[in-house]
Amino acid sequence: MPFRYSAPPWWRQAVFYQIYLRSFADGNGDGVGDLAGLRARLPYLKALGVDALWVTPWYTSPMADGGYDICDHRAIDPLFGTTEEAESLLAEVHDAGLRVILDLVPNHCSKQHPWFRQAVSEGPGSPSRDRFWFRPGKGPDGSRPPNDWPSQFGGPAWTRLTEADGTPGPWYLHLFSHHQPDLNWNHPDIRADFAHTVRFWLERGADGFRVDAAPFPVKNPSLPDIAPHASPTQLPYRDQHQVHEIYRALRALTDSYPGSHFLIGEVNLPTPAQRARYVRTDELHCTFNFPYLASSWEAHKLRQIITDSLPADKDTPAQAAWVLSNHDTVRHLTRYGRDDSSFHMDGTFVDGPLDTNYRTGFARARAAILLTLALPGPAFLFQGEELGLPEVEDLPRAAVHDLAGKQPNTPAQGRDGCRVPLPWSEDTPPFGFTTNGTAWLPQPSSWHGLTAQRQEADPASMLRLYRSALAWRSCHMPSLPTTLRWVDLGTNVLAFARGAFLCLVNFGAHPIPLPRETQVHLTSSPLKERRLPQDASAWLTRSGYPAPPSLSHDGTKSS
Ligand code: GLC
Repeated sequence: MPFRYSAPPWWRQAVFYQIYLRSFADGNGDGVGDLAGLRARLPYLKALGVDALWVTPWYTSPMADGGYDICDHRAIDPLFGTTEEAESLLAEVHDAGLRVILDLVPNHCSKQHPWFRQAVSEGPGSPSRDRFWFRPGKGPDGSRPPNDWPSQFGGPAWTRLTEADGTPGPWYLHLFSHHQPDLNWNHPDIRADFAHTVRFWLERGADGFRVDAAPFPVKNPSLPDIAPHASPTQLPYRDQHQVHEIYRALRALTDSYPGSHFLIGEVNLPTPAQRARYVRTDELHCTFNFPYLASSWEAHKLRQIITDSLPADKDTPAQAAWVLSNHDTVRHLTRYGRDDSSFHMDGTFVDGPLDTNYRTGFARARAAILLTLALPGPAFLFQGEELGLPEVEDLPRAAVHDLAGKQPNTPAQGRDGCRVPLPWSEDTPPFGFTTNGTAWLPQPSSWHGLTAQRQEADPASMLRLYRSALAWRSCHMPSLPTTLRWVDLGTNVLAFARGAFLCLVNFGAHPIPLPRETQVHLTSSPLKERRLPQDASAWLTRSGYPAPPSLSHDGTKSS
């Protein structure tokens, strides 16, 4: 058979930048980030050097859950702009040589969605109720929820409806907040509408999708209680076998369009085997590497996670994208400054930082990005991490929007601590985020040193480190082997090679000498006599490798 070379798909080594739209940049002066703001900042993203954008939901929504409560998946919320502006954005992103993926939310819609309103208004027995999960309550007066399933935001996953005539009605299922009724995927309308949405955005140029809460849309149809000793791998409302049909259909549909599209799932499941089932040749291309995101800053833990995450062989596409933070998690710069630097996915939050100057967190965040970008496979950045933004942990309670902030056992800021609008310029809030004076969430006045404008001018800034790393990566890493080989430099050092390239991270208290006969390309902290300090990383090549001009730790070229 003749040898046929097929180039790896564009996303295999791509770096994605997550746009949390309402906090990115405001273009119309209402204090909320929007499409006009994003379009105006495309040159910034191009200069940063990312390959693609992931835009979080921009669809019409009452914004009870930041846009993850959708009324119309095929229309842009007026808060963000218009469908025409979205089309222009897609074209401009492509003109800039970047790609864009959009969020799809199959599990639920908004309580304000026309279908839910119809189901409520048409009353008991109406077929319009079959698009959701309405069930009578337990007990003689139906006053107890139909089963014991919990909402991901705390409390029961059921809310009792009040009928139009004021009488108490059945309960409806919502695995997230009561603003987000779960859709019944057994109903043909749900499948047809989802396919319609996918086609709609593919025809407008979307390069793929991020699938929200991917394991949840299919439920055990008898809606049983959780078995008393159920293992967390077997829950009746998550990861049911039939859920994979949804992703097979999604893949078949996207593959039927010309070009190469990328599908990534939010698949936060306990075991690698469960997660891998979403990444088969006829399903999604990738999941997020949540174990990597949630890991503490410890060499042995990260090493184990990386080892376990690498596809077993090059023909297995099972790939999880490297990621350190997103719009649901505590920013890693803050986590890394704590005694317990892990992130707890079950929603529990640990105490505030020990290190209020963020010195440790800052050094580790710099080291972490070089580690992340040196690993083979796609990576996701969360907006603002390139500016070294910390979590905002003292938002006044009255300013908080996130519904998670209203749950017991969560800090008052909920997830808004990582969603504070970006500081672009100027010395006082709103730091160029908006023209009208007030951003939708207050920014700390201490962020004046973190604006993009300041950092652009500072060769030692986080922004310049990100730019240097992304530039070096896109120039030199595509030709590196996609497998890595661990190099033993002691228990406090993570070191691996990809061909002639070496990445070293020093977790220990003492500086370590760099291996001899290597050339230094980038370091996250300045070296002292070729020694790598604590909480720092370095990108090296072995001598003899056709080396590019060196970039020093501050991103400037050195001879
Ligand atoms: C995902 C989103 C999160 C949202 C939830 C419900 O986890 O990332 O922000 O609250 O789904 O849609």
